[in-house]
Amino acid sequence: MKTCQLFNAITNAAPALEFNFATFHLSCRNRTVQHDGEQRHALSQRTFSANQQPAPGTVQVWEIALDMPASVVAGAQACLPEVELVRAKAFRDESTKHRHILAHAALRCLLAHKLRCNPREITFQIGPFGKPALPAERHAALHFNLSHSGELALVALCDAAEVGVDIEHIRPVRDPIALAKRFFTPGEQDELAAAPPEDQINCFFRLWTQKEALLKATGQGIANGLQRFEVTCRGGGGLVAMDGEKITETEWSLANWSPHAEYVAACAVYVRNATIALKPFSFADI
Ligand SMILES: CC(C)(COP(=O)(O)OP(=O)(O)OC[C@H]1O[C@@H](n2cnc3c(N)ncnc32)[C@H](O)[C@@H]1OP(=O)(O)O)[C@@H](O)C(=O)NCCC(=O)NCCS
Repeated sequence: MKTCQLFNAITNAAPALEFNFATFHLSCRNRTVQHDGEQRHALSQRTFSANQQPAPGTVQVWEIALDMPASVVAGAQACLPEVELVRAKAFRDESTKHRHILAHAALRCLLAHKLRCNPREITFQIGPFGKPALPAERHAALHFNLSHSGELALVALCDAAEVGVDIEHIRPVRDPIALAKRFFTPGEQDELAAAPPEDQINCFFRLWTQKEALLKATGQGIANGLQRFEVTCRGGGGLVAMDGEKITETEWSLANWSPHAEYVAACAVYVRNATIALKPFSFADI
């Protein structure tokens, strides 16, 4: 693994797309769900600008393609310490193993680039519900979160607050309404039921990713907290209620978008009106 080359690849990556959480209203780049005119209006307000140097407090979300040739996987593997290699070897399916290696190598390389260290040297502290974090005594000001689904992973980095990210490959769900009854709040269930049948799967995953991103930001995970946050797809997405109380103002910023056709993603950070910069991660030079 040629670490320097990888760092060059990261810093020379294609220009970022940047948006502000407060004004970002993109449901899906390729398959827009439109529940009402409100969303169409919101879509037209979307503004992107290229910016390689995000301001402090910006969340950087890196998009990592996970289906790569064996030579790239071999290079990525060299970024992982023994403990991660042992984890990866536990996957029997080769493609799942390779995707795991690539996602975790990208995470470590991005962190190592920020911390100016070797990707293999990074150690994590694991929170009570499994959230990995950098050791607080050394790197309290760098927060991150990883999500992977199918052929894509996202890594979110933020120097201002805890961040959560979720990506889901949109796949068939036999009965999204029945599933929503188990996991969603009554308000979310109503919104899903009101969506046109052809949009219900998309709406389901948009609600799901937003809830999961919030719960991953808190570190709680989905095991006990799915009723805690109520979200919506309307107006491009957002937080509606917390712990049963409707929200008028919040410190939470929540964005929901489609990285690619058949994928939906969300990012949450406890920073009012935060800005998110989306960037492709390149394994090209490994
Ligand atoms: C975290 C969680 C939401 C992930 O769901 P998912 O959609 O399958 O996975 P994603 O790809 O979005 O995210 C996985 C990554 O999130 C991170 N992660 C793990 N636990 C996390 C948590 N509690 N909060 C935030 N991030 C977490 C890890 O980097 C993980 O990557 P890895 O498994 O490859 O190491 C889910 O596993 C969960 O709710 N875990 C909590 C479990 C729990 O409550 N355990 C009880 C105590 S032991």
